[in-house]
Amino acid sequence: MERLQKVIAQAGVTSRRKAEKLIQDGQVKVNGETITELGTKVSPSDEIEVNGVPIDKEEPVYFLFYKPTGVISSVNDEKGRKVVTDFFPEIEQRLFPVGRLDYDTSGLIIMTNDGDFANVLMHPKFEIDKRYIAKVKGIPSKRELRNLAHGIELDDGKTAPAKVKLKSLDKKKQTAIIELTIHEGRNRQVRRMFEALGYPVEKLKREGYGYLDLKGLNAGEHRPLTPHEVKQLRNLAVT
Ligand code: URA
Repeated sequence: MERLQKVIAQAGVTSRRKAEKLIQDGQVKVNGETITELGTKVSPSDEIEVNGVPIDKEEPVYFLFYKPTGVISSVNDEKGRKVVTDFFPEIEQRLFPVGRLDYDTSGLIIMTNDGDFANVLMHPKFEIDKRYIAKVKGIPSKRELRNLAHGIELDDGKTAPAKVKLKSLDKKKQTAIIELTIHEGRNRQVRRMFEALGYPVEKLKREGYGYLDLKGLNAGEHRPLTPHEVKQLRNLAVT
């Protein structure tokens, strides 16, 4: 048995919070009866309708995807560019990405049809670590990297403390490879952080998300998350 609002969110209708509102507003029926009680539990055999439309109860599925560059983190694109869901032709469920990576960023992104799970992971208060590898133009000094770690001023405010490691540098080409771990998820944040220091990002890849990494996958490939990994992510988001 699951809570009604969770089942509605899982079906991809809306977020759990909005599902609660729909229930309270009398817009949800279970087996033909209007239910306004938030704690109501339902079983897989119960028929649920939202505004008179039966919800599709999909089995929740979870994948780890290695997004290549040149792919939009969306389920469709007006300009006809490749989108992340194009890499899952065999999956019947309506998948969507948890958060986004820029068109020109590669790396780890979680794909699911579980709206509730996605909303929880994306909530800023849970501060899930995201580890990026950036190739930047120029070679930042130790002091500049320390500043980056402490937090730097961007046009939407100061960044939270981050972990920064210089992995390697190429003096001839004047480039550096830097690992940056942040838990915020502002738009183009990593690129903007390096730009603010004066070192434009030439290449960006997300290698880690919570406990997850890209081991065993090539760009464009995916694998299902294990039930244990799904649990671990949920735990990260409650601790
Ligand atoms: N930061 C960026 O600048 N781009 C991404 O895709 C992710 C984080």
